[in-house]
Amino acid sequence: MFPKNSSLLKSTALIGSDWRAAQDGATISVHNPSTCEHLGDVPKMGAIEAKEAVDAASAALPAWRKQTAKARSAILYKWYQLLLTNSEELAKIMTAEQGKPLAEARGEVAYGASFLQWFAEEAKRGGGEIIPAVKDNTQVRVTREAAGVAAMITPWNFPIAMITRKLGPALACGCTAVIKPANLTPLSALAVIELGKQAGVPDGVINIITGDSNAIGNVWCADDRVRVLSFTGSTEVGAKLAALCAPTVKKLALELGGNAPFIVFEDADLALAAKQAILSKFRNAGQTCVCANRFYVQSSVYDEFLSLFKNEIAALQVGDGFAEGTTIGPLINQAAVEKAAAHVADARAKGATVLFGGERLEGHFFQPTLLADMQEDMLPSCEETFAPIAPVYRFDSEYEAIARANATPFGLAAYFCSRDLGRVMRVSAALEAGIIGVNEGIISTEVAPFGGVKQSGLGREGAQQGMDEYSEIKYTLIGYAGSA
Ligand code: SIN
Repeated sequence: MFPKNSSLLKSTALIGSDWRAAQDGATISVHNPSTCEHLGDVPKMGAIEAKEAVDAASAALPAWRKQTAKARSAILYKWYQLLLTNSEELAKIMTAEQGKPLAEARGEVAYGASFLQWFAEEAKRGGGEIIPAVKDNTQVRVTREAAGVAAMITPWNFPIAMITRKLGPALACGCTAVIKPANLTPLSALAVIELGKQAGVPDGVINIITGDSNAIGNVWCADDRVRVLSFTGSTEVGAKLAALCAPTVKKLALELGGNAPFIVFEDADLALAAKQAILSKFRNAGQTCVCANRFYVQSSVYDEFLSLFKNEIAALQVGDGFAEGTTIGPLINQAAVEKAAAHVADARAKGATVLFGGERLEGHFFQPTLLADMQEDMLPSCEETFAPIAPVYRFDSEYEAIARANATPFGLAAYFCSRDLGRVMRVSAALEAGIIGVNEGIISTEVAPFGGVKQSGLGREGAQQGMDEYSEIKYTLIGYAGSA
């Protein structure tokens, strides 16, 4: 149940030391996508508060970047522990406003916490290097410095993990931050920041405002004091933000859309492939950027794989995220349901066969769906579906599978199943994606770099590489030839 009396539930936003309402008192309502129940209201802030948030982050920057790495690490570690001790409350808030099954929400809290733990550790390892000099009596020193104020715009599908995956490295590097969470899921985001304050994050180091995405984004992109823009969301919006940031030449970390292929070769363990396909496709009801979006199955095993996959899909249970046994929650809103229905209708009209599901259910729910006989001109082939729909295509050769998998402007994740070592090496090298899962459908972890190629984005989150987005490299040449 939604913990409506939780002390973590906020109806105000944080700028500097103040939890505040919007200056004109405007609010945004937050609803449960499963029941449409009203959960609360958050401030509808705009350009004025966006600038005030940057003022606060800029003012806090000198002291925070001067803190020792060890001190910053200790705060991040305490915050990680607070996420774990408040896991149940956070998970319930998330299930209520985002819809994902409670077990998945608990998993996301742990996943979100893992970035704080990881970057608490990385904070202490951000040293530099001394490079052998080319001139006598000189030293070539390379150090890392905090990039400055970082602006973060985060999505509704992972309302906690996408915030900690950005804030962890930013704070570890000594940056301060301004954050705009998705208007559909602000309660989880505000709750996490409240725990950050309890962990000892100083005033102004994190500022979070809810409200008008365009007005806030425009101010942050134009403000020269903001030196990093980190965004997770669609390629369309990411490209617009990148253009807005161009005049002030900010560092950009963009985690954008995907259109992940999942290839099943004839030498795969088919039962394992079907299970991994479920994990990859149906996590968060298909609403993840790294979800398999297109399944390519080799002709010789096509029927057998489809039968195994269909049996696995039939075992999924659609329902409210709080209900026992639910594995597929609602889609986030009506527009998502319309898009799912349009993808199925287009595929059907062009000759695809619906082997399972295919229908919208009451409210924001959609049946887990298996489509066979897919062709490349059908909507799910070219667009990220973001729904529990698995379209399956037939292929004959390895060459063909790779070519079709790569025939997309996106390149976030790609998956394939094979037990042939040579094929594993060849195909993982040939697939154009930033993340490859081989016989594995879940690839996300704090220890590995997450990010895409082509129009799926710029930069990496998590892992050691996650620190790069929030730090600048400084080279200092020190001459010491003068007399003592
Ligand atoms: C996303 O869908 O944007 C993130 C998914 C993940 O971190 O696994």
